[in-house]
Amino acid sequence: ARIVVLISGSGSNLQAMIDCQQSGELGGDIVAVISNRPGAKGLERATKAGIEAQCLDHKAFADRESFDQALQAQIDQFQPDLVVLAGFMRILTPTFTEHYLGRMINIHPSLLPKHQGLNTHQRAIDAGDAQHGATVHFVTAELDGGPGIVQVAVDIEAKDTSETLAQRVQYQEHYMFPLAVQWFCQGRLRLHKDGNNHVSLFD
Ligand code: GRF
Repeated sequence: ARIVVLISGSGSNLQAMIDCQQSGELGGDIVAVISNRPGAKGLERATKAGIEAQCLDHKAFADRESFDQALQAQIDQFQPDLVVLAGFMRILTPTFTEHYLGRMINIHPSLLPKHQGLNTHQRAIDAGDAQHGATVHFVTAELDGGPGIVQVAVDIEAKDTSETLAQRVQYQEHYMFPLAVQWFCQGRLRLHKDGNNHVSLFD
């Protein structure tokens, strides 16, 4: 499978996928990495791994629609089977999410449906949650609302700050996210595009 990864920042999840690709465990090829932020460290990670790294700065566009249109054109040049949002910090238009429905996945740092949106680690602590985690899900028009594929939970400790908690959650993300990509590449994951989108995971 051909994979395009979208990032905005550090790209530690991207790195986890690159590592799996290099050890032959990803089941697909990352053919391009695209960032909406020019300085994103993940772009260096891609280049270092010999992967095409491109930037599409959202600030150069007047509105969300025109950015998403240009992004879609840039992605589709690579004819991907799967688009992976790995710390891509942009809200996407329904036209864009519809175009990639069933072939675009995201990782969100919470136990969805809890804590959609930003600052999830601090919000989980403030809410007094016993556990926190991350979820990989198919992307639909609803922000952080698409059907879940796999989820990992960690216990919140009394001494946790949002930084220590984020670190433990991300450690788990780096195992879980490449695994979900592998399942997709193996044809074991399917989004059913009926009224209530749901996911099947085949053996
Ligand atoms: C991750 O914590 C992910 O859950 C969230 O953004 C972060 C991206 O980190 N969506 P990185 O760029 O992969 O290091």
